[in-house]
Amino acid sequence: MRITKTFAETRTATAGRVGLVPTMGFLHEGHLSLIEAARDGSDTVVMSLFVNPLQFDRDSDLAKYPKDLERDVDLAAAAGADIVFAPEADEMYPGEQLTRVNVNRLSDEMEGPNRPGHFEGVATVVAKLLAGIQPDRSYFGRKDAQQLAIVRRMVSDLSFPGEVLGVPIVREAEGLALSSRNIFLSVEERAAALTLSRGLLAAGDLAEAGERDAGRLIAAVLVEIGTAPDISLEYVTLASQELVQPLDELDRPAFLAVAAWSGGTRLIDNVHFDGDEAGFVADRGSRLKTKSILYGGEG
Ligand code: PAF
Repeated sequence: MRITKTFAETRTATAGRVGLVPTMGFLHEGHLSLIEAARDGSDTVVMSLFVNPLQFDRDSDLAKYPKDLERDVDLAAAAGADIVFAPEADEMYPGEQLTRVNVNRLSDEMEGPNRPGHFEGVATVVAKLLAGIQPDRSYFGRKDAQQLAIVRRMVSDLSFPGEVLGVPIVREAEGLALSSRNIFLSVEERAAALTLSRGLLAAGDLAEAGERDAGRLIAAVLVEIGTAPDISLEYVTLASQELVQPLDELDRPAFLAVAAWSGGTRLIDNVHFDGDEAGFVADRGSRLKTKSILYGGEG
């Protein structure tokens, strides 16, 4: 296991098929599942670890983003990473940066208006990682459904070589989608947050039973969230996987996504629907059997 600081050093250290797992650190089992997927399909697995200031719309969120390099390096190595690329800001953004990447239309809905500049920051840093490391495959979590769609589109539109793979959500034992931000939830906020996954999983059951109406799928989520008075909802939307366009009907590969605040913590979650009009399968992700490593201990 090697820690690298520059793109050049990272490229020199790779051999064969290179799998890239971009992260902002403070790893949980969701990240580890990306590393494991990369391990399966690559000769060299590179995990990048960079808390990208460009994608934070609130300075307070950036300032409190949890960091622990030593912990992350140990976890990444145990999950099968060969290299942790942990650049300083100067390597990622040397001098004045005049170039930004925007993926139009796909950024217009859902997270886009709620987090101004976020996807520009994500697309720009991912473009730099792909250009600087030149992976054969890169791995992104389905939890950030819109981000995954945007990265896929950017790679296709800008003709980056290499494939983008989406990996299912990993959930805590009670259903909450894993996020480094979950550590900020109080007991009451966590209980309220669980209504998000409960609602989405109920909508997943409905869709698999043949429900196609977006309004009724969304209503299934709202009913659950309505039982938690302290949740502040931003959106529940059914959108196409390809263009992130809101849908009235589930008639193509799509995802039903929610964003909400529980106390001071913003949470997102979704269920993907794969298939076609003949039948959709809900990707509910997987669930941990034990407590997440986010909370210390062995899990
Ligand atoms: O999903 C994340 O952790 C980040 O958005 C990413 C892809 C590492 C870019 O900074």
